[in-house]
Amino acid sequence: MVTEIDHVAIAVHDLEAAIDYYRTTFGVEPVHRERIEKDGVDEALIKVADSYIQLLTPYTDTSPLAKYMEKNGEGIHHIGYRVADCDEVLEHVKAEGARVVDEHPRTGSRGTTVAFLHPKTAQGTLIELVEE
Ligand code: CO
Repeated sequence: MVTEIDHVAIAVHDLEAAIDYYRTTFGVEPVHRERIEKDGVDEALIKVADSYIQLLTPYTDTSPLAKYMEKNGEGIHHIGYRVADCDEVLEHVKAEGARVVDEHPRTGSRGTTVAFLHPKTAQGTLIELVEE
């Protein structure tokens, strides 16, 4: 059901500084940048093999990520699992009784279809299903 790690998302205060860190430390550049208005975040994707490091920063105080970072600061925020069919996996997860953040798949960055699963029933990890 899960085919690959799509991305590991890292919450950062300063996106440009984080990009600089990755450039200086690992010699890599973002391959994609996008403002995701529904989530109130700016992202930069750095490709690692077939997966990404997703650097995320809130651009508005009302972003859920801004609230999360007030409490938890910077660091790993969620993990994205690549799936062939987001809707099918989401329905399976719900049928198994696990909590979800998104009741239905929605559009993510890069035109992907995504749904978040609640950390409460996922060992404290916020999980994002990503269908390309
Ligand atoms: Co993500």
